[in-house]
Amino acid sequence: MSDSLAQRMMHNPVFSQVYEHMWRPTFTRLFSLGGTGTADFDRALTAYLTRPGDRLVLDVACGPGNYTRRIAEGLTGDGRCVGVDYSPPMLSQAARTNRTDRTMYIRADGHALPFADNTFDTVTCLAALYLIPDPLPVIDELVRVTRTGGEVVIFTSVRTDLTSFPGVVAAAGSAGYRIFDRHEIVDRLRAAGVDHVEQTITGQGQYVLGTKSPLTPSADRIPRSVRQNSR
Ligand SMILES: C[S@@+](CC[C@H](N)C(=O)[O-])C[C@H]1O[C@@H](n2cnc3c(N)ncnc32)[C@H](O)[C@@H]1O
Repeated sequence: MSDSLAQRMMHNPVFSQVYEHMWRPTFTRLFSLGGTGTADFDRALTAYLTRPGDRLVLDVACGPGNYTRRIAEGLTGDGRCVGVDYSPPMLSQAARTNRTDRTMYIRADGHALPFADNTFDTVTCLAALYLIPDPLPVIDELVRVTRTGGEVVIFTSVRTDLTSFPGVVAAAGSAGYRIFDRHEIVDRLRAAGVDHVEQTITGQGQYVLGTKSPLTPSADRIPRSVRQNSR
């Protein structure tokens, strides 16, 4: 199957350069349509993610590292934020513009994250699942690499009154943009072993936060040597 328009954009060097300061703010405003304050919620989420702490965070589908860097800025001690993306132009942009002592960037597919089970304190996947042709297995991967008791944070699309108009879902789909049913993300997180799932729908987007259940198996955390090489 050929790449969708959305996927092709993610691999375009010019798009990766304008993404953080032009495309993302515009898209956030578009997401606010028909609701109150996706942009406000985005600020609240950023404040939540950047709270101080010695945490190991994974930002899946990090794009040019716009959130990776912001998350890393709040970390203390050995805290690091690892950004993963499969687009070389996005990662080059991240390395150029959002690199700090507490960030590292790795090229990988969200379907097969190169980390052991139960590694990260927090795993985020923001504004990306709707672009991924087979997104639900990626949710399983997010949960797999989150440590027991750790948190998973997702921002993505959701079906609303506005997007339920006939033809909207199909038209979006033909450009490579998926609109999730209301329970799809929450149900998949629960099935993968996430508890206390909190879903906030605002405008055309949903923010979903959950905690990995202690009933899922635990394994070693990321080795210290990896943390020390994270520059
Ligand atoms: C719209 S950007 C989101 C960037 C950032 N997370 C944000 O919130 O602004 C979506 C990113 O998902 C990445 N992506 C799409 N499919 C992916 C996959 N299967 N594995 C890893 N990254 C993927 C794209 O390369 C792109 O950088």
